[in-house]
Amino acid sequence: MLRAAPGIVMEGVHKHYALDGVEVHALRGVDLAVAPGEFLAISGASGSGKSTLMNIIGCLDVPDAGRFSLGGSDVTRLDADALAALRNRELGFVFQGFNLLPRTSALENVETPLIYSGASVRQRRERAREMLERLGLADRMAHLPSQLSGGQQQRVAIARALVNRPGLLLADEPTGNLDTATSGEILDLLAALNREEGLTIVLITHELEVAARAGRRLVMRDGLLEH
Ligand SMILES: Nc1ncnc2c1ncn2[C@@H]1O[C@H](COP(=O)(O)OP(=O)(O)O)[C@@H](O)[C@H]1O
Ligand SMILES: [Mg+2]
Repeated sequence: MLRAAPGIVMEGVHKHYALDGVEVHALRGVDLAVAPGEFLAISGASGSGKSTLMNIIGCLDVPDAGRFSLGGSDVTRLDADALAALRNRELGFVFQGFNLLPRTSALENVETPLIYSGASVRQRRERAREMLERLGLADRMAHLPSQLSGGQQQRVAIARALVNRPGLLLADEPTGNLDTATSGEILDLLAALNREEGLTIVLITHELEVAARAGRRLVMRDGLLEH
């Protein structure tokens, strides 16, 4: 189902923020290698740099220094258009707050990333339906986000993240708004996608029980990844 997964190679990555004259050194020389097909969890305290790292892996932001490649291409050398294309083709994102379009059905939410794919309206509908069925939402396609439970909304968000068949799923606190039982269901689903479809997953969490579900765990502390 999914295309060949891109590996991540990061060496000596730094990121600074300057806000109102205060400089924050959010990443202080991060080294990271993720092989295709891995399920990696990164945990760490609030403010340790997890989201900053995720934004760089997700090509939403660029490092100030260091090397970063995704699937063999050196991301630091790509221009904005090439980055957007890479992001669209290779990466899926899932967030704590689901980020679904509120006045739009589950099916239409999942179709959205396909608008620029060149697929026909009919093909888009077909692929969105398939993905929602795969995620156990066959009977919820016409529902609006407000008519779905938190766990169902997160499954719609995962369907939307995967409808372009990316090799790498980035999930930033995906169970942060869910109760324990529903968190468990979402983690079961991610583990199944990893095991059965070879989806590479990088999951950020500050909860150790959530991190325990991944194949490998790393801890972020003060802008550095502890190996
Ligand atoms: N856009 C920004 N502008 C200024 N400082 C930021 C910005 N984003 C994050 N930071 C700072 O960078 C550090 C790391 O933040 P973040 O990556 O969000 O950590 P985490 O996700 O682990 O909570 C924090 O000190 C935070 O305040
Ligand atoms: Mg964060």
